[in-house]
Amino acid sequence: MDVAAPSLAPHAAVGAGRKLRAADPCAFVIFGAAGDLTKRLLLPALYNLAAGKLLPENFAVIGVARSAIADDEFRRQMADALRQFATDDVAAGTLDDLIGRCHYVPGDFDDPATYDRLKTRLGEAARNSGTRDNGLFYLATPPNLFAPVACHLGAAGLAGEPDGSWRRLIVEKPFGFDLESACALNRELRRCFAENQIFRIDHYLGKETVQNIMVLRFANGMFEPIWNREHIDHVQITVAETVSVENRGKLYDRTGALRDMVPNHLFQLLALTAMEPPSRFDAGAVRSEKLKAIEAIHPLGAADIAADVVRAQYAAGRVKGKAVPAYRQAPGVAGDSVTETYVAMRLLIDNWRWAGVPFYLRTGKALAARKTEIAVKFRSAPLALFRDMPVESLAQNLLVLRIQPDEGAALHFNAKIPGPDVRIENVRMNFKYADYFDAAPSTGYETLIYDCMIGDQMLFQRAVDIEAGWRVVDPVLAAWGKADGRDLCSYPAGGDGPAQAQDLLARGNRQWRAIA
Ligand code: BG6
Repeated sequence: MDVAAPSLAPHAAVGAGRKLRAADPCAFVIFGAAGDLTKRLLLPALYNLAAGKLLPENFAVIGVARSAIADDEFRRQMADALRQFATDDVAAGTLDDLIGRCHYVPGDFDDPATYDRLKTRLGEAARNSGTRDNGLFYLATPPNLFAPVACHLGAAGLAGEPDGSWRRLIVEKPFGFDLESACALNRELRRCFAENQIFRIDHYLGKETVQNIMVLRFANGMFEPIWNREHIDHVQITVAETVSVENRGKLYDRTGALRDMVPNHLFQLLALTAMEPPSRFDAGAVRSEKLKAIEAIHPLGAADIAADVVRAQYAAGRVKGKAVPAYRQAPGVAGDSVTETYVAMRLLIDNWRWAGVPFYLRTGKALAARKTEIAVKFRSAPLALFRDMPVESLAQNLLVLRIQPDEGAALHFNAKIPGPDVRIENVRMNFKYADYFDAAPSTGYETLIYDCMIGDQMLFQRAVDIEAGWRVVDPVLAAWGKADGRDLCSYPAGGDGPAQAQDLLARGNRQWRAIA
């Protein structure tokens, strides 16, 4: 994945409702230890966990990468990375302790000898650091290596869990390129690891505010009774980014906004918004309810795709005053590329709670502002009571969950403007996390890593969850493939997206919320 901006502190919600404890003794093995993900996110996250006393006392980090360096050099590199990318000031004691636990295994990922060396190192860690044969294998590698590394681990006997120990595999997105490749990847991974050993990360689930959607809905009595088709007019889910593709052009050009963001991050937001209350707050119950919501998305046929899905690519423009060249001019992007950098869609959810309530989703790069939010628009109150007064219309109530930045929630409602006549204005009640909670920056990975260490899979995706997401978007990919770019719209960098996305809502007399 791309390295994400820091988010809120982890510790308030690590394991909401469960008692915090240091994780089990274990070795944290990173494949791709020389890469950006390790330096910018994993190591700073491990540091934050160490600082919060959430790492086990018996703990080792084992980096695996190609360059032939020794432990000392690896430690030096990791210490430098930590000093550069830590989310807060580093305390020398915690840093030294963490770095002292780092070890290194050089080797190619397709060479069985690498895994033999790793096995020896894991044995040493168990003996010298007391990690008890528990191992977490984090695949911070390009996606084409996920299955091969997993299979090599299996072949080397490293996927087995002897004598009560555990072995877990952590995989980052992308999980496949479409439904077929996602199913193939899941099959490969499960040849060597059992489903309950596989932790598929969607980093959106590590965000405090995303986890809070469930708390807001199910820990409050006032929202759930009106959270349905009787009271909700529509839902808007926006993930807008100001970043352009920058130096990711080559990779992005083969991916596009739909694959990159929709079946994963946006569908997670949709699932948390639309799901039924789970019977228990545990991984099985929560993931099953989320899955049901995604499975209930009305399948998109050719006519729906033509009418309800908009794809667009940014042209040259200015984002926050800075000139941004057109997508097609970005390094690594084909000059005639038809890859979308923006997608908007209208989805319906076929169940009793949501029948007839459109869910509008949009995401794009090089837009006017960075903003991730879920806006729930309620049905209008009847104007009846005010019909003889100078009130022409009543704004619909709106609940906005701000996921990032400026995390919080706002409720928009109508109030009387003071004065002798009855005039009404829409006002806003605004809750900001920063006003209530101590929000030290974090990488957003702390909760996820901690959960892997304690074996809680609630925030991770099962094979069926991944496949359900792809099943919805696969027909869109196929239709776009056939259209060969004829359906591609354009928007200037720094804007709100293409006009066609506005039309999507205008058809139902609705309007997107402004991005900036
Ligand atoms: C990643 C995508 O998964 O999420 C990136 O690959 C995108 O293209 C990123 O920029 C957005 O994450 P965040 O946390 O910054 O919203």
